[in-house]
Amino acid sequence: MSQPLSDAALDQLFRTARTYNGYLDQPVSEAQLHGIWDLMKMGPTSANILPARLVWCVSQDAKDKLAALAGGTNPDKIRKAPVTVIIGMDLDFHEQLPWLFPHADAKAWFDGNEPLREISAMRNSSLQGAYFLLAARALGLDTGPMSGFDNAGVDAAFFADQPRVRSNFISTLGYGDPATVFDRSPRPGFETFNRID
Ligand SMILES: Cc1cc2nc3c(=O)[nH]c(=O)nc-3n(C[C@H](O)[C@H](O)[C@H](O)COP(=O)(O)O)c2cc1C
Repeated sequence: MSQPLSDAALDQLFRTARTYNGYLDQPVSEAQLHGIWDLMKMGPTSANILPARLVWCVSQDAKDKLAALAGGTNPDKIRKAPVTVIIGMDLDFHEQLPWLFPHADAKAWFDGNEPLREISAMRNSSLQGAYFLLAARALGLDTGPMSGFDNAGVDAAFFADQPRVRSNFISTLGYGDPATVFDRSPRPGFETFNRID
């Protein structure tokens, strides 16, 4: 039977983990990117649809291209981070279901139903984005998720050859510089946004 994680692990994943706006000058290896994927891919998605399609922007060219499509203070963060990942979603994820969900004809549930595919892709790629954040933290890395960018522009720049893939959100990745975090915003207690019926 599983046991609760240690306080140190819970701190690293949640309680002291932060959103970073800048990173230490410490590289992130390709093996670490694989390590993140190998953890995050195990998080559940409905019918194992796994709609997320990730582009890991490691080269300065890729980061500059992405930064040019971001707003506010985001471009500088993207350019300077060791890695910035685009979490995209495949609206035709159902084409993969014969091998991803072999127990049933799940492809048929989505065939010809674009609205169901859109909401399923958004819901489940967002979940996968959250698994990404936690997998990175679990491996000792830090992240800075962002939605302040031109989605259509990013789709044209990064998914031109995959027209059924759309960007969901992006995130910087690296070893966070503690000097770059904002003051912690309030996190309300249970009674504020919860109810037990
Ligand atoms: C989906 C998503 C989109 C976000 N978009 C932006 C953004 O465009 N620009 C930005 O500076 N921060 C962005 N943030 C960062 C949030 O403001 C930050 O994660 C939140 O305030 C919690 O900060 P903390 O983890 O340090 O407590 C985004 C976070 C998430 C999860």
